[in-house]
Parts: sequence; C-alpha cells; structure tokens
Amino acid sequence: MHENPANIPRHVAVIMDGNGRWASARGKPRHAGHRAGVKSVRATVECAAERGVDYLTLFAFSSENWGRPVEEVSKLMGLFVEALRREVDDLHRNNVKVRFVGALEQLSDGLQKKIAAAESRTADNTGLVLNVAVAYGGRWDIARAAQALAARACSGQLAVEDIGEDTLEAELQLAGVPDPDLLIRTGGEQRISNFLLWNLAYSELWFTEVLWPDFDKAKFDAALAAYAQKQRRFGHTADQVEVATC
Ligand code: IPE
Ligand code: IPE
Ligand code: MG
Repeated sequence: MHENPANIPRHVAVIMDGNGRWASARGKPRHAGHRAGVKSVRATVECAAERGVDYLTLFAFSSENWGRPVEEVSKLMGLFVEALRREVDDLHRNNVKVRFVGALEQLSDGLQKKIAAAESRTADNTGLVLNVAVAYGGRWDIARAAQALAARACSGQLAVEDIGEDTLEAELQLAGVPDPDLLIRTGGEQRISNFLLWNLAYSELWFTEVLWPDFDKAKFDAALAAYAQKQRRFGHTADQVEVATC
C-alpha cells in the first residue's frame, strides 16, 4: 500500500460522463459535447501530473458505447484520431507515458496505428502514466484474463491450483499498475458502468454533478481534497490503521 505524505492518490481513474447533456443544454448535437470534453482531458492530465499523481486512467469509450447511434460512434472515433494527432506532441513534451487499454482490435486500422504510434513515441517517458480505456469493459477484461489462464492451464504451463487473485490480476489490462485509489465520475450518475470492475475493489469513489466539459483543475483538486480526508481501512479496524500509520 503506497501513500505519499500529502495523501495524494497514486492512481486516479475517471469516468468522463455528461458530454451529451452538456451539448443538449446548449441546443447543440451530442458530438459537440464530446469535442468540448477534450479540453477537460487536457486540464485533468496537466493537473494530475502537477499534483504528483503517478497513474491516470480515463474511460473514453465503453464496450456498451458501441450500441450508440452510428453517427455518434463515428464522430467519437474521428475525435479520438484528431485528439491523438493534436495532443501527442504536448504529452510527449510533458514526459507523459500514454497507454491504451481495451479491445483495440475493434477499432479502425487508422486509429490503431495512431494509438500504436502514440504509445511507442512516449514509451520511455518517466512522468505521469496516462491509460486511456477505449472499447473497454470490466467484464470483458476479467473474462479475457480467465480465458488466458484457461489456455495456460490446458497447455500444461499453469497448474489449476495455482490460479488465484495474483495470477488473474497479471492477465488484466492494467497488470502491474496499482489499483486506483480514487475514482472520479462526472455527470451526476453514481455507478461504475462496467469500468474497472476488478481494480476498483477498494477505491474511494467521488461523484460530481458537474458535466465532463465543465470539469476543470479546481474540481480535480476538490476530489483530491475529499480523498485526503478518507481513512482507508481495507477491511481492518480504524485502530489497526492508526497504529500502522503512526
Ligand atoms: C460521456 O458522455 C462520453 C462517452 C460515454 C463516450 P455521454 O456521451 O455519456 O454524455 P451523457 O451522459 O449522455 O450526458
Ligand atoms: C460511461 O458512461 C462510459 C464512459 C464515460 C466512456 P455512459 O454514459 O456510457 O454510462 P451509462 O450508460 O450512463 O451507465
Ligand atoms: Mg453518459
């Protein structure tokens, strides 16, 4: 369990919700909300790096979002391509290491190429690790890990009795990344929507009514301040935790 002195979460995960409502409230098409959300992504990445967060994981597109109207999906995919084209230089300059997680093979070849280029360009950076979840679902992630373990068991590389939490976790998309300490969800809903089901087991949850395009550094700081007040007990008693942190 890592906790730095200022109680800054080591890993922050964000469900960036509310773009469509932001646009509708202004009489604009939903994709205008997605476009407006890009500047909130920029602000969040900058703020996370400035505050000393090590890992930031953003939910950009869920497995279920494929079920949206074709036009919205295609506008979103176009926006991802455009955002990669525009933002990667700055991310690289700021020493950010970018990684994408999800069923990336479901994306267009063009987008896959842009993703691979962004990952390889920033691979050696040593600052903030930015994970972007695209075509990602928590159930998909766990099912895929189970499949990988089953394949190894069937081929005799892994004994069934050696399958446990650690072996399964090592097959997940965020293998090697500490679990999120803090989950932020904008847009007013208080649900997980099939995000990191395994990894969020003990995360602190922070919800805000603010719609994603209106999310800014002040709101990010408000989430960090709420997090800093929490006593994380991981199933233990308050007394045990206090003794351990003395
Ligand atoms: C989040 O905003 C972005 C994605 C899910 C891709 P929404 O598009 O879900 O916005 P609302 O929830 O409809 O307002
Ligand atoms: C969650 O938002 C997915 C992303 C932010 C990418 P949704 O808008 O898809 O979630 P629901 O449908 O309200 O649960
Ligand atoms: Mg939504």
